[in-house]
Amino acid sequence: MSVTLNSVAKQGKHGAAMMPIIQGVGRAAIEIAAVLRSAVFRGALGQAGSENIQGEQQQMLDVLADEIFFEEMRSTGFVCAVGSEEQEELLVIDEYTQADYLVLVDPLDGSSNLDVDGPVGTIFSIVRRKTANSDRPHVSDTLQSGQEVIAAGYVLYGPALMLVCSVGTGVNGYTFNSSNARFELSHPDIRIPETGGYYSVNESNSDIWLDNMGDNLERLKNKTGLGMRYVGAMVADMHRTLLKGGIFLYPADNKNNTGKLRLLYEAIPMGFVMEQAGGKAMSKNIAVLDIKPDTLHQRVPVYLGSKTKIDILLDS
Ligand code: AHG
Ligand code: MN
Ligand code: MN
Repeated sequence: MSVTLNSVAKQGKHGAAMMPIIQGVGRAAIEIAAVLRSAVFRGALGQAGSENIQGEQQQMLDVLADEIFFEEMRSTGFVCAVGSEEQEELLVIDEYTQADYLVLVDPLDGSSNLDVDGPVGTIFSIVRRKTANSDRPHVSDTLQSGQEVIAAGYVLYGPALMLVCSVGTGVNGYTFNSSNARFELSHPDIRIPETGGYYSVNESNSDIWLDNMGDNLERLKNKTGLGMRYVGAMVADMHRTLLKGGIFLYPADNKNNTGKLRLLYEAIPMGFVMEQAGGKAMSKNIAVLDIKPDTLHQRVPVYLGSKTKIDILLDS
């Protein structure tokens, strides 16, 4: 018998409670993958004509993925509210306001790749509420540092559909097997290699990077001789970095003074997974997981990778 997502129940202190939520993520992933495959036939490629809270054009698939993810979280009965890249406010699940957990999500990551059939992903993390169960969940429940995250992970819509997650006891990768409609454990106990790999960054911004990142990256390149890979979808760049080693970064620059990637549903979940896989996740000189969030949609600089490479990058 293959090991499936049910195995999450046996992992970590909250594993039993995480299992239905992560299974919900799996169902959302299957539905979103189907929508992605058929989008061109349904006229669902292209812009939705609306902007999200970050002032970015929403694509129709951003909106559809957001709706699918929310419905699957609602159907678990374990989630009281969802904070999404595509929603300005926290979305409370009215039937389950007493439930214990909140989910933060980037429903479709790397959506600029959609027009060219490039890889995209979904990123999520799960926290326990701070308000009393008798209260209505509040956005302050989402403003928890990465040290308080219970589980996190991502879905990669690539040639295969993969769900990679951690409940705080290491990282496992599951691949969707369409012949039995299950996510099967295909990559147990993922550890980032300390040697080899690539550096991954949008180097066209190097002239405008802040925090000395231009010099820092040159030092890393000179010392390691690493080759370069960049997909432009954090999930795909993170997944390669996790499996092959190296470093992924999105520094602050003089257009995005605090960076581009969002703390709660991009930096923290990926930082959590990276650290659980034996790597390091930094934001300037502070660990990503130590940042105390101020707002739902705040952005931070992000440097993720193997310990050795991050230490060379930051000269620490
Ligand atoms: P999203 O599609 O959710 O807005 O995220 C896009 C992010 C991330 O996936 C990627 O690492 C980064 O934007 C790429 O940005 P550039 O095009 O500026 O390199
Ligand atoms: Mn994203
Ligand atoms: Mn997105």
